Amino acid sequence: MRTQIAVIDYGSQYSQLIVRRLRALGYFSKLYLPGHWDEVGRPAAVVLSGGPARVNEAGAPDVDFEHLQALGCPVLGVCYGMQLLNRKFGGNVAHCGDREYGPVTMEVRHADDLLKNLPAESTIWMSHSDSVSDLPAGCEVLAVNPRGTPVAVRWNERFFGIQFHPEVSHTEYGTEILRNFLELSGEQPAFTMDRFKDQLIEDTRREIAGRKVVCAVSGGVDSTVLAMLLHAAGADMHPIFVDNGLLRSNEGDEVVEQFRRLGIEVDRVDATDRFLSRLAGITDPEEKRRRIGDEFIDVFFSHAGSVELLAQGTLYPDVIESATSGSQASRIKTHHNRVDRILELQAEGRLLEPLAELFKDEVRELGAALNIPHDMLHRHPFPGPGLAVRVVGEITPARLEVCRAADAIFIGELKQSGWYDKVWQAGTALLPVRTVGVKGDERTYEEAVSLRAVTSVDAMTADWSPLPADLLARVSNKILNRVAGINRVLYDISTKPPAGIEWE
Ligand code: XMP
Repeated sequence: MRTQIAVIDYGSQYSQLIVRRLRALGYFSKLYLPGHWDEVGRPAAVVLSGGPARVNEAGAPDVDFEHLQALGCPVLGVCYGMQLLNRKFGGNVAHCGDREYGPVTMEVRHADDLLKNLPAESTIWMSHSDSVSDLPAGCEVLAVNPRGTPVAVRWNERFFGIQFHPEVSHTEYGTEILRNFLELSGEQPAFTMDRFKDQLIEDTRREIAGRKVVCAVSGGVDSTVLAMLLHAAGADMHPIFVDNGLLRSNEGDEVVEQFRRLGIEVDRVDATDRFLSRLAGITDPEEKRRRIGDEFIDVFFSHAGSVELLAQGTLYPDVIESATSGSQASRIKTHHNRVDRILELQAEGRLLEPLAELFKDEVRELGAALNIPHDMLHRHPFPGPGLAVRVVGEITPARLEVCRAADAIFIGELKQSGWYDKVWQAGTALLPVRTVGVKGDERTYEEAVSLRAVTSVDAMTADWSPLPADLLARVSNKILNRVAGINRVLYDISTKPPAGIEWE
């Protein structure tokens, strides 16, 4: 789909959020690195994002001002973007003493164009330590903070700047400001998921070009939507479901059945023995992950045979993160989607990533547009290494079985009580700690399980869910009565950070 609004990413933690907000307003938007104008093309408007650098510092990211002006479209500089533009127009930027962070009152001076329909005062969200100082001749102040510092300006007909973040929900009229800006572009909203879906099916069909497509399916949201998209594009597909023996109770059968209901026959490969023997005696979490990842690639590719085309459910945040940052988190993700075998296929033009322009919530929307039932699209996330990261310590068939049985009870009760859909993710960890108890007249010395249910928006941070005491009591009673090998049930009340959502 043609990019209507280009967002130039100067590294703000909110850059992706700007893109999401613009898309939610119906304008197809994408992030671009500064200087990549050849990729940007001719958008209907440009947003320059915020960022951690300081405009006056040597080596601070710049903008090709001539090119920007030559585009002839409206431009909105946000925070760093505003400061950069002020310099380009001949003004200056100064350090404003203390870092200004959080809610601030904005007083509107000109409620037209960008600030149309806004009240005289409203709350905006700031996060900056520099601000525009000398405004160049002709620059009009549209709004100020209580200290009188300009927080919204316009340099000419098309160039606007705001010192605050319209994309965060704390900015009261952020959506209106973005909508006003979009209106100035004269462009009509063109992004709806139905339209995007039709175009994606067509593009995917063209890209497949009659080749046989192999893909891995897990039953998770991304791989399910991917498979359904390939199906809708009429692909001759080979969906491989690697059962690594680390799945939850009945999960393997359910995945096969779920795809059957969608009209897709998956090729289930039972590789339990291979995975479990590769994990025998391993207790280090990273080593577990490494072995599971390597084994998956081995099993998958040996089963796939010679691959004409591999489809993979890479999402937009993975693409952005691999392109724009060298953080540890992005390296981990890159590792998952970009192992050598996959890089080779990519170099040969045999890798298809049709979800690569979508955010997670948009993948769900696409899934709904492809008629995938709601419950399949709203399953809790489940880690690729499966119960291996929830069976803390050594993985044995017996310990896996205990974890599975306890988890099935917990998840069953969550579903029955209506709490499943209120939490982001829930699961049960088996702890390698034995404690003393009594059953009947006998002393027991058995392991413990810890229940975890969290609320989250993106898994980067999480809070424990305040499940009702009677629900926890029911789960605990059932587990203690029915699951052999457990004499203690704990509820995990740790936030992330510092704890992870998973135990390993
Ligand atoms: P943590 O434990 O890092 O988990 O707080 C954050 C989210 O990521 C999931 N997770 C994984 N997903 N492969 C995956 O596909 C992994 O190795 C992995 N580790 C954690 C976890 O379930 C949670 O949703």
